[in-house]
Amino acid sequence: MPEKILEIKDLKKYFPLGNGQTVKAVDGVSMDLYKGETLGLVGESGCGKSTIAYTVVGMYGATDGEVCYKGTDLVKKGYKRTLRQKGEIQIVFQDPGSSLNARRTIEKSMQVPLDIHDKMSKEKKQARIESLLEEVGLPKEYKNKMPRNIGGGERQLVSVARALATNPELIILDEPTSALDVSVQAKVINTLIELQKELELSYLFITHDLSLMRNVATRVAILYLGRLCELAPTKEFFDAPLHPYTQMLLSSIPVATEEEEAMKPEQITSQGEIPSPVNAPSGCTFHTRCRDCMDICKVEAPTMTEIGPEHFVCCHKFAKHGLEEQKEAQEE
Ligand SMILES: Nc1ncnc2c1ncn2[C@@H]1O[C@H](COP(=O)(O)OP(=O)(O)O)[C@@H](O)[C@H]1O
Ligand SMILES: [Mg+2]
Repeated sequence: MPEKILEIKDLKKYFPLGNGQTVKAVDGVSMDLYKGETLGLVGESGCGKSTIAYTVVGMYGATDGEVCYKGTDLVKKGYKRTLRQKGEIQIVFQDPGSSLNARRTIEKSMQVPLDIHDKMSKEKKQARIESLLEEVGLPKEYKNKMPRNIGGGERQLVSVARALATNPELIILDEPTSALDVSVQAKVINTLIELQKELELSYLFITHDLSLMRNVATRVAILYLGRLCELAPTKEFFDAPLHPYTQMLLSSIPVATEEEEAMKPEQITSQGEIPSPVNAPSGCTFHTRCRDCMDICKVEAPTMTEIGPEHFVCCHKFAKHGLEEQKEAQEE
């Protein structure tokens, strides 16, 4: 088994709204990230993806649970030593505008992490910035440009170069291509894949675009209203999805070939909208949209069950009692 670089255990992040109500943005998420892999974290808008990212890097404190980086619980031991000083975990945001200052040259923006993490001479810093730009496939002369004078994809590549400045081992990519034109998305993705191989990076790749994960992720996890539904190695995930929500998501993504079309679960119409995490449904939070909803689903939350090697599902259908209930229904 490869080494685990990150272990998230029963992570919760609640936001009190001040009116007695609480947003349960992340409500008991457990997952591990192996060194060198890409774990795809997928879900609809508002399901808690960014909140997980921000809690892992310490931008938000956790309400409960553990975020263990190389065996050290960052929630308990504090993020500062690992993240701020060593820069081993970095995050790339959806909008490169949030990490690049619009009024600074690219060189100035890229100096910031270098200044924090290393005491370097001016010449050395310049050389490092140039080599980081080249590493992500941009001309070194770009250091003199302003962010507005380069393309959106190029700006995102600068954010990636900036994240690489501290020699991170783990990079959290929060919808890194969602704000970009389709025409430049592939270039950014391919650069990320190349960099991963070259630098042995581990990625937590967050996206609402499930189809993107087919060729990028080692394993895929599905998030719904702050809880995981299913987690499986990518091939198995796409070939044999089990959770009704995964099947619903997969049935609605476009495919390239007839072969893939044949593999797709039958078309399942998306039922209803995603409920609010302030007033999440009782029991299994997906039961209000689930075509396979059983009585137990309305009252009892299911737990993650490993139904095959590395394949986890959180659904009563795949718990022991769920299988019995299904059998009884069939016999009737
Ligand atoms: N700082 C905050 N205060 C209150 N609610 C928040 C805050 N950040 C996120 N939320 C809520 O938490 C839920 C999850 O948000 P988010 O993690 O941004 O979702 P995603 O990234 O999957 O779109 C949403 O309902 C959002 O409104
Ligand atoms: Mg988000």
